[in-house]
Amino acid sequence: MFLRNCWYVAGWSHQLAGDALVARTMLAEPIVFYRKADGSVVALEDRCCHRLAPLSRGRLEGDDLRCLYHGLKFAPSGKCIDIPGQSFIPGRAGVRAYPVVERDCWIWLWMGDPALADPALIPSALGHDDAWIMRTGELAYKASYELINDNLLDLSHLSYVHAKTLGRGSMSWGNSRPRATRLERGLRIARWVVDNPVAPYIGEPPGTRTDSWQSYDYMVPGVFLLTSKFYRPGTAAACNMEAPDDSHAPFWTSLTSQAITPIAEKESIYYFSSCLDRARANDQQADAQIDLFRRAFNEDNAMIEAQQRVIDLTPQPRMLATSADGPLNQFRQLMAELIDKEASPAADALRQSA
Ligand code: FES
Ligand SMILES: [Fe+2]
Repeated sequence: MFLRNCWYVAGWSHQLAGDALVARTMLAEPIVFYRKADGSVVALEDRCCHRLAPLSRGRLEGDDLRCLYHGLKFAPSGKCIDIPGQSFIPGRAGVRAYPVVERDCWIWLWMGDPALADPALIPSALGHDDAWIMRTGELAYKASYELINDNLLDLSHLSYVHAKTLGRGSMSWGNSRPRATRLERGLRIARWVVDNPVAPYIGEPPGTRTDSWQSYDYMVPGVFLLTSKFYRPGTAAACNMEAPDDSHAPFWTSLTSQAITPIAEKESIYYFSSCLDRARANDQQADAQIDLFRRAFNEDNAMIEAQQRVIDLTPQPRMLATSADGPLNQFRQLMAELIDKEASPAADALRQSA
């Protein structure tokens, strides 16, 4: 089941260049993207209303898109405006047009009721601006988006899945105690990760250790917005394990924004950025960090795809909960409530008025 009344990341802005027609499958729907002459983005059902050929194999004619099977032409609104060999165009001739917004280097698509497509619901990506050196990536998954959400909502796995990459051979992540706070459409999860080795590329002497404050918002349907601030050892204790205030200055800061979009029930795509403070970091460090992220996210991919295969082989799969599962269970509950609400809006309205 998917949440439909929600913005999904459809890709990076730079992936939609010039007059390209880009085909994507999102929530099991074929969609074609292109830019109009003014640069704004159009998203149409990638399925011609005539014989169901993909419009992504068509041709842009100005701001309109012509199917190159038998030549029907569609306006950016999705309305059919030309049928070769016939002057009459039936009123129902057309394809679905999706609300689309380009923001923070991402293209966001609304998959539900267009009347509810409020751009104010788009989470703000972190570091996707000129103050930060940004690197980007994406990774295809043969797994449900829910398993990837679970992974990002329990970062204790860094000490195990990523022992040789992000975990840096330390149990600091596995032993950390995150605190989760409910937001309107997500969770805020924060923790100190104490006495961890620093990444080699940040230019500190070998053996340098850090207390890092790791705080992220996890927003529906699966948008991860993490700020990592690195302080000298002892800072976590000096802050009584509470959030650091301005009297403590981090020696390094990193931001990352990540988004999961379902392609189908058991197929997903994962978009991620790595952003370093331009005032402090250089291009080589940015390259080193995204390289580390890629290696680490491939480790997640291998584990989660294997987990999906086991789940598929397990009759009536049941899971044993641990205390680390709190945030992921809260998020699953939030998604279930929202999916339930849009499945039966009348019942929901009744509940609200009771
Ligand atoms: S399938 Fe598109 S014009 Fe025939
Ligand atoms: Fe991971």
